[in-house]
Amino acid sequence: MEQLKNLLQEYQSCVETALDKWLPASNLQPQHLHEAMRYAVLGEGKRIRPVLVYATGHVFDVNRCALDAPASAVEIIHAYSLIHDDLPAMDDDDLRRGRPTCHKAFDEATAILAGDSLQALAFHILAHDSNMIISADQRIRMIDILAQASGSRGMAGGQAIDLASVGKELNITELENMHIHKTGALIRASVELGALSQPDIDPESFDRVSHFAKCIGLAFQVQDDILDIESDTETLGKPQGSDMQRNKPTYPNLLGLDSAKDVAKQLHEEAISGLSDFDEKADPLRCIADYIVQRNK
Ligand code: IPE
Ligand code: IPE
Ligand code: MG
Ligand code: MG
Ligand code: MG
Repeated sequence: MEQLKNLLQEYQSCVETALDKWLPASNLQPQHLHEAMRYAVLGEGKRIRPVLVYATGHVFDVNRCALDAPASAVEIIHAYSLIHDDLPAMDDDDLRRGRPTCHKAFDEATAILAGDSLQALAFHILAHDSNMIISADQRIRMIDILAQASGSRGMAGGQAIDLASVGKELNITELENMHIHKTGALIRASVELGALSQPDIDPESFDRVSHFAKCIGLAFQVQDDILDIESDTETLGKPQGSDMQRNKPTYPNLLGLDSAKDVAKQLHEEAISGLSDFDEKADPLRCIADYIVQRNK
């Protein structure tokens, strides 16, 4: 267990080194924009999505340096989504990763542009990185997976549903659909990019890890909803109670806290059973699945 935790920490520092390398230096023009991009990405995030990229690559014996680019790309898309999610036009939150949100530390226009620029940077990284050991066709497939997961049929689409649902009571199917898009899509893409970093990946194994990722992606947002009620602002590094204050439909809101916890538990079980054909090389993935439903931040 200790060994696994160390491995996950190693993955975090790998991606942090890679992110620092890919982000434009803050003394490059336009400096204010580059500072905002670095501020948003290099803050204290949990790095769950890049860690999933590395952990999935581990299942398929992918060299770690071939995973730095997809790991950085998913984290950069995620950081962009957080900047925009916090804007006054969206969740209007002032605290993120334990410090002022990007639009508070800089200004709204800079925050919007930092998000835009980060989105472009993520695709630049996937198109450009020379440590990825895959064919051009496979690289295009990876770019397409990230594009789909980020856009109107993925994260951004989920965010649109979220905003359109304020003050409404969604049924469980609608709520699940919203969560699968706004959060699940990028988590699933993280695992898929890790798997596709192996040029010889077989379609069955790909489907298995993809299904695992679908389950933990939804579980992740269910737990996020639970923490909005049960945790505290200092631990979260973002404002506790934000969903309630904005009248957002959430799992605990619709089902009650205990049933929301049951849903997270069932999704965790389904995720773990989806990995049953894999040996101990999938233990880092199993460990992340446990963390997702046990975490307190
Ligand atoms: C927060 O994501 C936004 C959601 C999709 C729920 P994380 O909980 O992964 O945030 P960081 O990256 O650790 O700050
Ligand atoms: C965020 O959902 C999903 C994103 C795409 C960023 P939330 O609005 O619940 O995320 P937090 O709680 O602000 O991190
Ligand atoms: Mg939101
Ligand atoms: Mg939010
Ligand atoms: Mg939330």
